[in-house]
Amino acid sequence: LFAGEVDFLKGVVAMSGLPADDRIEVCFAGRSNVGKSSLINAVTGRKALARASNTPGRTQEINYFTLGDERYLVDLPGYGFANAPVAVVEKWQALLKQYLSGRASLRRAFVLVDSRHGIKPVDEEIMTLLDKSAVTFQVVLTKADKIKPIQYDALLTQVREKLAKHPAAYPELVLTSSEKGEGIANLRSIIAGIG
Ligand code: GTP
Ligand code: MG
Repeated sequence: LFAGEVDFLKGVVAMSGLPADDRIEVCFAGRSNVGKSSLINAVTGRKALARASNTPGRTQEINYFTLGDERYLVDLPGYGFANAPVAVVEKWQALLKQYLSGRASLRRAFVLVDSRHGIKPVDEEIMTLLDKSAVTFQVVLTKADKIKPIQYDALLTQVREKLAKHPAAYPELVLTSSEKGEGIANLRSIIAGIG
């Protein structure tokens, strides 16, 4: 689906370290532990490409992955609670916000939301930032394997209600499970279709 190789390019700790903005770029943002890195692995079909773990705050750099020769897929540090020293967390949170508001080649931010929790106030803060920077964002519900079918309605209602307030929100939601593979092919084709 992605012509050519999928590979890790680099981890970035300051805006000055970003690669040239000459490719189509999409990123995975979301609260710590929501499943960003696991979703990178699922979408690329490479089990250990991005480092995932049960410790919130695992990803502490902006990690660039190449999808073929014209796209970047970007794994971001999480926002919200993280299991790391405050000063360190503040540093990567500042970088995250700079990145989300100042990256010219960023075509879409996928904002990952845990299916069990729905949209939280910290998610809304990030969504407001994306509105202001006019970066289109699309919500990806993660860990769908963790909820029962009967819980879908309430989840989708909450998410749609919150998104209605955000002009930069893309209306279509994506329901995924990195664990079970649900929704992964769909997300892959959405990414491949962003031009
Ligand atoms: P940070 O880098 O700390 O911000 O976290 P992250 O958003 O990258 O989350 P990560 O992918 O590291 O996953 C966090 C935890 O959730 C890990 O223990 C994963 O195994 C688990 N997880 C991720 N996706 C799924 C899923 O689809 N289903 C289930 N059941 N667990 C998942
Ligand atoms: Mg991570």
